[in-house]
Formats: sequence, C-alpha cells, structure tokens
Amino acid sequence: MVEVRDLARHTGEEVTVGGWVDQLRVHGKVAFVVVRDGTGYVQCVAVKQELEEETWEAATGLTQETSVMVRGEVRAEPRAPGGYELQLRRLQVVGTSPEYPIQPKEHGVEFLLDHRHLWLRSSQQRAGLRVRAEVEQAIHDFFYQRGFVRLDTPILTGSIGEHAGTLFSTDYFGQNAYLAQTGQLYVEAGCPAFRKVYCFGPTFRAEKSKTRRHLTEFWMVEPEMAFVDSEGNMRLQEELVTYLVERALERCRPELEYLGRDLSKLEAVKPPFPRISYTEAIELLARKGSETRWGDDIGGADETLLSEDSHLPLFVYNYPKKVKAFYMKENPDDPRTVLCDDLLAPEGYGEIIGGSQREDDLDKLLARIREEGLPEEAYGWYLDLRRYGTFPHSGFGLGLERTVAWITGRKHVRELIPFPRLLNRLYP
Ligand code: 4AD
Ligand code: MG
Repeated sequence: MVEVRDLARHTGEEVTVGGWVDQLRVHGKVAFVVVRDGTGYVQCVAVKQELEEETWEAATGLTQETSVMVRGEVRAEPRAPGGYELQLRRLQVVGTSPEYPIQPKEHGVEFLLDHRHLWLRSSQQRAGLRVRAEVEQAIHDFFYQRGFVRLDTPILTGSIGEHAGTLFSTDYFGQNAYLAQTGQLYVEAGCPAFRKVYCFGPTFRAEKSKTRRHLTEFWMVEPEMAFVDSEGNMRLQEELVTYLVERALERCRPELEYLGRDLSKLEAVKPPFPRISYTEAIELLARKGSETRWGDDIGGADETLLSEDSHLPLFVYNYPKKVKAFYMKENPDDPRTVLCDDLLAPEGYGEIIGGSQREDDLDKLLARIREEGLPEEAYGWYLDLRRYGTFPHSGFGLGLERTVAWITGRKHVRELIPFPRLLNRLYP
C-alpha cells in the first residue's frame, strides 16, 4: 500500500491506497471518488466500461467516510485535488459508513463538539491540528538546540502550583492530591541539576469561565533558567515566539492559507517586542476608557484594548504583587510589584505567556506562602531550594492552544486541541 503523499513517485505504476471516501460524483458512465488517506487526497476515476459490474456498482454506491482500498494506475492530473489520479481497477469496501453524522453543510458548534471524534477528519480541523503538531515539535527543537534538558514533571501533586481557586482534587490513597496547574515548582528544582530545563505537558485548571481562551485541560511549555533575571527571561520569550511563528510559516503554509490566515501579520513578528510596565498599561487603559485601576488585575477585555494597536506581541511587566502568584520575586525598586511579565498576543488573543523571576529569598517566600493562606507544610521541599544554595532564576509558561489559536487565526482555543475539556464537556 502507498501513502497518497508519495504518489508522485509512482506515476505510471499500479498501486493500492487505503483511506476514507470524501466525495463521490457520478457523471453517467464515469464516476469520481475522492479518497482521503490522512496524508492527502486522491481522485479515483471509475469508468463503467472498464470495470466489472460489481466494482462499478460498489463505486457508485459509496457513502461519505466509507473506508476503502482502491487499486489503480497513478497519473498526473493537475485539476485533481493533490495533483494525481488513480485510474480505478479494483475497489474493496473495508467498512461501510451509513448516514455519516457530519454532512457538508453548516452544523452548530455544540453538535460538532459532541462529534469531535469525527469532526477531527474535516479539513479545517486537520489544518489547525497539524499546525499545533508542528508548533509542538518546534518547541522541543528550540529548547534542545539551546541546551535545555527536558524534565518531566508530575501531574499528581501535593503542593498547589498557582492558586487555590482553580484546583481539581482527587483522593490519593487517603491523601488529597491535585492535578498539576503547572510544572514550574518542579522545574525550579531541576535548575541546580541541569541549569536550563523545561517541561511540556498537560496542565489542569478548574476554570468556571466559558470564554474562547479557557480550557480546563491545556498544554503548557515551561522553561526555567538558573542565573537569568526577568530581563533575560523576556528575551527568551520573544525568541521562542518568533521561532514558533517562523516554523509555522515555513512548514505549514498550505494549512495557514487554507485557514485564511493573513500571513503578512505573521511575517511581521520579529523581536524586539514592545514592552510597557503594568503602571503604564493602567494609564493607557484609562485613556482608552477602561475602569481598571492600579492594583486591579488586567482582564481579557483590557488585554484586547492594550494589544489592539500593535501587530507585535506586547509585554506587560511588573504587576502588583497582590494579583500574581506567591512565587514571584519582589521588585527591589518598588516592593508593591513583582518582577514578572505577561506576553499579550496581537489581534485580541490575550495572554499567551506568563513569566517571572522567582523569589529566591527564603524568608520572603515563606511570608508570601503564609499571606496567601497556602498550606506551609506542603512546601517544605520547595523551600529547601532556597535553604540549600539559593540562586536567582526565572522562567515562564507558554500556553500552547492560545499560541496556536493566534498563529492559525482561529477564534476559539477549543479547536486547537484534539479533545477539548471545557466547563460542560468531558466527552468524547
Ligand atoms: O500565567 P500562568 O498561570 O502561568 C503559570 O502557570 C506559571 N507557573 C508559568 C511559569 O512561569 N512557569 O499560565 C501560563 C499560560 C498563560 O499565559 C496562558 O497562555 C495559558 O498558560 N493558560 C491557559 N490556556 C488555556 N486555558 C486556560 N485555562 C489557561 N490558563 C493559562
Ligand atoms: Mg497568567
């Protein structure tokens, strides 16, 4: 059996292709069956006169998504999808597909999400998920090339990684365990072992919000670097984001074009990205009519206001301590704030990265854990990192689905993960 993407190498030969029926058109004594095999499309031309009656009957009775093995001679045909055709000789139906639920018409998104296991087969969904896969590979390549060691972090955790509000908890043989909100605390422990490390995996947040930017299970890549400050951290973020966009442009251009992405916007993504402090952001928001005041968190609507003027991602740095997680380092120049940054994607996609320099002072970190009302006993191991050879260090988390939603220009993050977990959705 050959894969459709390799057909060019088999021109003139008779080959077998296995796949699923995408389309059937019958014009009198000639029928065209378009088969998708997951690597491309091939049009099979069935001519009644040349086929046994059974084969002709089978070919003209095919329904959408029937799985088939087709055999025939390969020839170039510029008008066919994919550029090649099979002159059909034999056809075997592998699995029938009566009344396929997803028809070539408009379906509501809830219906499509209920049928996500089938919706994956559609061209738009495949294009988005292929870009996701490319971006994932690019993430690993980026860190590997820079000498980072991949450190896999646990999903079942005892210590709360971010904040108590959005935890999924489960019984762990009589103890309380949480699904990881982040791998950060563990990659911090990896720094003295390997200096530069990263983790990349699913993270979990019991988000009660139904927005186009929130999933309850999403993938995050989290690098952590010893002897790097907040400034160096932001530089790595802009390098990473630029690289991911470049890779998508280089290797997924057909998919991006298929999705109707304005490529000139992506081509313009080059460092340095503009930077404004939280305080400047609040002033800018006030000028734009937002009610948000100094001390408040910057929400989704404000993020859109801030990023609307720029085609580049925008850094907002040094937020008030009160709105950020316990582990961020106090800003020595203004102790009301912490040394952190959020990277906001352009075009209203919101925060794609949250990063910070970490509090490396034992007493300050302990005070923050107490202030937040977090259970001190769960952080003994984490505080050890400050007891035994503390060191300046920084890192960040890039949300994969938000990043891919922005790169592909799709509105909702739920389309950029194969099986989204949302507030009311645990199936399929
Ligand atoms: O800003 P967050 O909460 O940062 C952390 O978890 C840090 N521990 C990361 C670190 O410094 N190592 O989340 C990071 C990113 C966000 O910028 C966003 O892109 C994504 O994760 N994210 C979500 N994506 C989809 N659905 C959600 N519910 C998300 N919550 C965060
Ligand atoms: Mg954040």
